[in-house]
Amino acid sequence: MRTDGDSWDIVTSVGLTALGVATFRALETIDPDPMIHDGYAAWFVEAAGEPRFTRLLKDPAAVGAMARFGRFMGVRTRFFDEFFAAAWQRGVRQAVILASGLDARAYRLDWPAGTVVFEIDQPRVLEFKDRVLADHHAAAKADRRVLAVDLRDDWPGALTASGFDPRRPTVWSAEGLLPFLPGAAHDALFERIDALSAPGSSVAADEFSRGLDPDHFVGMEEKLFGDSPFGDLDVGDLWYDDARSDPGDWLSRHGWTVHLTTPFEMAAAYGRPLTDMPAELVDVAQQMRYVSAGKRG
Ligand SMILES: C[S@@+](CC[C@H](N)C(=O)[O-])C[C@H]1O[C@@H](n2cnc3c(N)ncnc32)[C@H](O)[C@@H]1O
Repeated sequence: MRTDGDSWDIVTSVGLTALGVATFRALETIDPDPMIHDGYAAWFVEAAGEPRFTRLLKDPAAVGAMARFGRFMGVRTRFFDEFFAAAWQRGVRQAVILASGLDARAYRLDWPAGTVVFEIDQPRVLEFKDRVLADHHAAAKADRRVLAVDLRDDWPGALTASGFDPRRPTVWSAEGLLPFLPGAAHDALFERIDALSAPGSSVAADEFSRGLDPDHFVGMEEKLFGDSPFGDLDVGDLWYDDARSDPGDWLSRHGWTVHLTTPFEMAAAYGRPLTDMPAELVDVAQQMRYVSAGKRG
């Protein structure tokens, strides 16, 4: 399924997963008791016009078990929102959102004045995103700089060329990204983050380095979604399962203080325990960890 240098737009291959995530955020936003509010997500879903996703937003009552997936995404979104807020409370004013997809944090969050937010993703994903945001006259709440560059290529060069300052502490996120990178690019990602991070920087990612069987994910999709919103696209086929470093281990060996948690622990901490989830989703969630780390001085 995947090849070196492959690319996509918002309705194909890995791009469709960004649209899927936006759909789940939109669903959580219109839940009667939502964990997050992302009013931008529905704009993207509507503009993409992919019927399997727009249908879900038009008829939330038909969402059924998929609402659980929205809740799961709500936990993840809140985790990363709070991670960014913690960084700016420490005075960090430079953020890099790796694989930003349809993440609207540059618009949603109340960044302190003077914050620069860099977003990196593939060109056609970002073109779509910026077109929708412009159509809605959306205004970013930070100095947003968009870098259309592949994360398997020389993204640090593009970042520094667009004004990134490695002498200043940075807050980094890699949300929903790591399984889509081949092992070499995955490991290079953390090496590059480390090389570009001044003391006081922090990074967060969700990861499956303990292993996730793609067939298991597909089984879950079929059972939860029935008619999968991803259509014939098998999301498990988009993932790499080649060897790679464990991000938490790697970071702790390279001068970072690491904290690991799980979606279950965070949901409980938010007072929204994930108790009513189908067993398949529980299995997947149990293999996922949120790793966050701060670079020591
Ligand atoms: C599941 S989506 C997550 C998007 C976003 N972080 C979020 O949580 O809403 C995966 C994203 O990773 C991006 N991505 C995956 N591999 C990439 C690569 N090699 N270079 C640039 N972007 C990549 C995709 O384009 C997509 O936007």
